[in-house]
Amino acid sequence: MKMLIFGQGYIAHKFKDFFGADAEISTVRIEDYSVVKAELELKKLDVVVNCAGKTGRPNVDWCEDHKMETVFGNVTAPMILARACEELGLYMVHIGSGCVYEGYNEGKGWGEDDAPNFAGSFYSRTKAWSETMLKEFPILQLRLRMPFDSIPSERNFITKIVKYDKVISIPNSISVLEDFLVAAKTLIEKKAIGVFNVTNPGVITHQEILDIYKELVDPNYNYTLFSVEEMEKITKAKRSNCGLSVQKLESQGIHLRPVAEAVRASLVEYRKHLENGVTV
Ligand SMILES: NC(=O)c1ccc[n+]([C@@H]2O[C@H](COP(=O)([O-])OP(=O)(O)OC[C@H]3O[C@@H](n4cnc5c(N)ncnc54)[C@H](OP(=O)(O)O)[C@@H]3O)[C@@H](O)[C@H]2O)c1
Repeated sequence: MKMLIFGQGYIAHKFKDFFGADAEISTVRIEDYSVVKAELELKKLDVVVNCAGKTGRPNVDWCEDHKMETVFGNVTAPMILARACEELGLYMVHIGSGCVYEGYNEGKGWGEDDAPNFAGSFYSRTKAWSETMLKEFPILQLRLRMPFDSIPSERNFITKIVKYDKVISIPNSISVLEDFLVAAKTLIEKKAIGVFNVTNPGVITHQEILDIYKELVDPNYNYTLFSVEEMEKITKAKRSNCGLSVQKLESQGIHLRPVAEAVRASLVEYRKHLENGVTV
């Protein structure tokens, strides 16, 4: 299966690394419809994966001050790509986000058909808008959350939080990328369409993750917690904290490792990467 990936960021490279020689990262930006269509015709591929989007640097607060660029990258660009894929009869996969919810839906976790209920950041609003629009078409949407894997990097969720001066500690669903990519491959091979929460089952707090980090990676590491209210005094946008249901994913026979188990396994490897000289 030949895959063309759009976007040249963190998740795009994870797809490329996982799918190897079958995958290629396009250098074309999704701006001009005819340029995108010509690229798809040229590459003769089976599946198009949209990992392009505006996520903000250093974080999503950037999106609050760059709304036009954010809405173009997260809503207009996916629609341009979707139109080109429809025109050419190509199967499209889009990376969505679970950051469209807050809370835990009375412990059940939010399902794919629950209406988004988190509008506290412009980034999240654009992800909800594009999801709703893309749902109208035969496209696979993979909802990712707080991604990380065993490779230290400034975009890795764990690398990020261990560098913060203070951290909130709220239960959340997260996607361990080693598992996310296996699930993505299975869904792509089935040519699944629709929205899927692709997170590890269960929720985990930041504190639980950092305790595992301290135990397995760096015994000298210490952290300071602060409240969401204190954090919101220093951020421009609010942050989504939520639990997602993986019932739909599991109904496809796809069972990811429970979240705490996956975090531990990933951090064992994370330490090895640091010992082998991987730097951020
Ligand atoms: N990482 C996360 O925490 C996370 C969580 C949930 C969902 N997601 C979603 O996963 C996707 C990929 O995220 P990521 O973490 O890989 O973000 P990233 O590292 O910021 O990469 C996104 C890439 O897309 C590019 N891009 C933006 N607009 C584009 C356009 N019109 N055409 C082509 N490329 C464009 C960006 O380039 P420029 O910056 O130069 O424009 C950047 O290289 C996004 O849709 C994001 O919303 C990410």
